[in-house]
Amino acid sequence: MTIKNICCIGAGYVGGPTMAVIAKNNPNIKVTIVDINAERIAAWNDPDLNNLPIYEPGLADIVAETRGENLFFSTAIDAAIDESEMIFISVNTPTKTYGKGKGMAADLKYIELCARNIADVAKTDKIVVEKSTLPVRTAEAIKSILHNTGNAINFHILSNPEFLAEGTAVSDLLNPDRVLIGGENEDAIAQLANVYAAWVPEDKILKTNLWSSELSKLTANAFLAQRVSSINAISELCEHTEANVNEVAKAIGMDSRIGPKFLNASIGFGGSCFQKDILNLVYIAKSYNLTEVADYWEQVIIMNDHQKRRFSDRLIKTLYNTVSGKKIAMLGWAFKKDTNDTRESAAIYVADHLLNEQAELSVYDPKVSKLKMQSDLNYLNTRSESENETGLQTAHTPYEAVKEAHAIAIMTEWDEFKSYDWKAIYKEMKKPAFIFDGRNILDKKEMNAIGFEYYAIGQ
Ligand code: UDX
Ligand code: UDX
Repeated sequence: MTIKNICCIGAGYVGGPTMAVIAKNNPNIKVTIVDINAERIAAWNDPDLNNLPIYEPGLADIVAETRGENLFFSTAIDAAIDESEMIFISVNTPTKTYGKGKGMAADLKYIELCARNIADVAKTDKIVVEKSTLPVRTAEAIKSILHNTGNAINFHILSNPEFLAEGTAVSDLLNPDRVLIGGENEDAIAQLANVYAAWVPEDKILKTNLWSSELSKLTANAFLAQRVSSINAISELCEHTEANVNEVAKAIGMDSRIGPKFLNASIGFGGSCFQKDILNLVYIAKSYNLTEVADYWEQVIIMNDHQKRRFSDRLIKTLYNTVSGKKIAMLGWAFKKDTNDTRESAAIYVADHLLNEQAELSVYDPKVSKLKMQSDLNYLNTRSESENETGLQTAHTPYEAVKEAHAIAIMTEWDEFKSYDWKAIYKEMKKPAFIFDGRNILDKKEMNAIGFEYYAIGQ
């Protein structure tokens, strides 16, 4: 089998950038990304590259270079499956909101739909690649569906988890630390390794068995999230002891066994993966009756929830124990900088908490729309949609957000926040003017010199 056509089901944050980079580096392979969401596909096909459905630095250039050449976006799912030798499954696997495992287990209904779709349509042998993050042993289920089609087609299932981080997706894909391929059939593994070998050095393409690959993805995210919760736990201790968490992070990060990355204390991690994957890990551990293992990892989430909560509690306490009727400017809504993704963003939970205390919020984010902010809040179901609309206003500029505000809460570490004219901002605000820096991006001494009452995490 030679790979001439690749199909990817799911045109999201993972499928879109990954396939664009595969297409760019494999001009002889036709890559088709399909999705049930026609609106999303239309946005990917929009001639105006500013309208692509996701924002990632460098992505628009690659799409401009490859789209219509060997990269295609389509809603014709069956046709794309039929013509491809290799099919990536990159659909979402949200935490279950119903039934057994509610609030913990991954909902695999979309994965199963994809597998059934492939089984129905396929007329020739296929390599099926799991790209979505999945519980360990999901490949078993996919295999069982595909192998029971009753026709004589061979399906080979591979696990090829994605390690890209949003905001740096393109550079992570172009220069990956490693590419992980789990599988049983050596030829299928070699075919996929070949696709990556077009730009990834061979020693970075790691081959394992299926289950190790699936578990490695969950474990990598759990370890990363654990580092954030660990430094956040220390940040609370710092606030009580006059130690400075930035100094502690630097001091421990210089130990080569610990390393400097992922030690930024914050309002808590967000994003579509960390919480979901840890809950998944906890659920799997519980299902094998491994109580201590489950409890150990669950604590990472408990710490993260605590960090979000105590940020808003500290703000309220400092504003003389009430924010009722007070304008609070929130800078940032995305879960991290350089993305328009807001899934599980700490800003949503902080906003919800402050609205419960009757604050009047004015939010500015360089990439997130008003519609998105409102739908994120409405999804929590805490109050009516009209109450959310009244309580949370979206500002078009940072200066509009801070005008007459009692306090500023920095939620996302967007670079532009650092270069604002903070003296001008100070003048626009009610006095005393407070800043609660949830990302430790501003300089305390500088802010104090301007006149701000400045509070950061772990300082
Ligand atoms: C998602 C998960 O969050 C991540 O854990 C997993 O590794 C990959 O899938 P992401 O790309 O960020 O990552 O999700 P999302 O942006 O929601 O994209 C998924 C796409 O799949 C959506 O556009 C959705 O419309 C599409 N989809 C979903 C299908 O095309 N068919 C389905 O049956 C279900
Ligand atoms: C993560 C993993 O990094 C990636 O490998 C995987 O494929 C998907 O999940 P992502 O969620 O896109 O990627 O972003 P990441 O950079 O990991 O940040 C996650 C959250 O942790 C963000 O809210 C970020 O602000 C927060 N964070 C990260 C901190 O609070 N402090 C840090 O030091 C690092």
